[in-house]
Amino acid sequence: MKKVTVNASRVYDIIIDKGILDRAGELCATVKKPCRAAILTDSNVAPLYLARLEKSLSGAGYETVSYTIPAGESSKSAENYLAFLSFLAQNKITRSDCIFALGGGVVGDLCGFCAATYLRGVEFIQIPTTLLAMVDSSVGGKTAIDIPEGKNLVGAFYQPSLVICDYDTLSTLPDDIFTDGCAEVIKYGLINDKELFCKLKNPIMPQIEDIIENCVRNKRDVVDADERDTGVRQLLNLGHTAAHSIEALSDFAISHGSAVAMGMAIILRAAAALGHISKEDCDEAIGRISSYGLPTDCPYSARELADVALNDKKRQGGSITLIMPFGIGDSRLYKVSVDSLEEIFKAGL
Ligand code: NAD
Ligand code: GLY
Repeated sequence: MKKVTVNASRVYDIIIDKGILDRAGELCATVKKPCRAAILTDSNVAPLYLARLEKSLSGAGYETVSYTIPAGESSKSAENYLAFLSFLAQNKITRSDCIFALGGGVVGDLCGFCAATYLRGVEFIQIPTTLLAMVDSSVGGKTAIDIPEGKNLVGAFYQPSLVICDYDTLSTLPDDIFTDGCAEVIKYGLINDKELFCKLKNPIMPQIEDIIENCVRNKRDVVDADERDTGVRQLLNLGHTAAHSIEALSDFAISHGSAVAMGMAIILRAAAALGHISKEDCDEAIGRISSYGLPTDCPYSARELADVALNDKKRQGGSITLIMPFGIGDSRLYKVSVDSLEEIFKAGL
């Protein structure tokens, strides 16, 4: 078992171990005395893991109710947000009760936003079941829903009280979704963890506990330093400026993980062209991304990528902050004028 503690506006642990879904009740009881537990999950995860979570929570004295949304990004919607809030109210969930997110990033983000706003804030516990959710979305308190005008445009910073990461649940994850999560793992290596990057020469699953712990420690460090995402937390956006454009241009047919892989390859090649990273490091990084079956060639032009990126919420007046790799494990915030973005993307295509 591994434990990582986050010291943000709330102090909480991320517990990483095999099979701990069946011990969720006992683990939760260490941070929240038995109460009513409202579980949010999705239609793929419910038949696999909901009964086990309910059994464990009831065994520890919690009284459970559950709500299942259809699997998929389209469920991170205002409709489901309101529907789950109504479910909480109809089930008389009070401020002394607790909400549980059982699933991937979609369930976690939606559940977290409901927890942040229902009764002006109710405690919630994350039980991530995808690699992406284990290494990224369940930690750090970014909660959100999508609206027709864009992804994650409505949300709140709201930290969970506990994260229970049972990596046994990854055994049922479809291969393409696991591969998507690998893009985020590689990202941590490229940002500031060369040792992690080297470990990724070998397959992830045999070293999964270590890898999740490494990623979560990296994320914890930036969240502790910059919970509200005004400084170093932005490092987590390596490759994401182009990736968000790629996802939008494909009408979300290209998955987030694939888009992040392409986005990282673009910024790596641009960094090499600008002389910031050596050709060897650039080639090695792109080789590692490809070795996980992730794409590194982008089907869109620099103009298309830049146009969409400049409508993104991360633009600050006349400039935009990119994350620029200067070496493997050495990425830095890099402010550029909006006028130069297209040229930078062109250098990376
Ligand atoms: P997801 O939640 O849609 O899960 C992907 C698919 O896997 C779904 O079909 C789901 O039903 C299925 N699934 C989940 N666990 C499973 C399991 N153990 N076995 C079988 N199937 C399983 O997607 P995701 O990739 O986990 O998360 C993506 C979301 O996370 C996006 O909405 C993104 O915006 C958000 N996100 C948030 C943060 C953050 O900091 N809050 C960070 C990164 C991404
Ligand atoms: N996934 C980016 C962040 O949490 O800031």
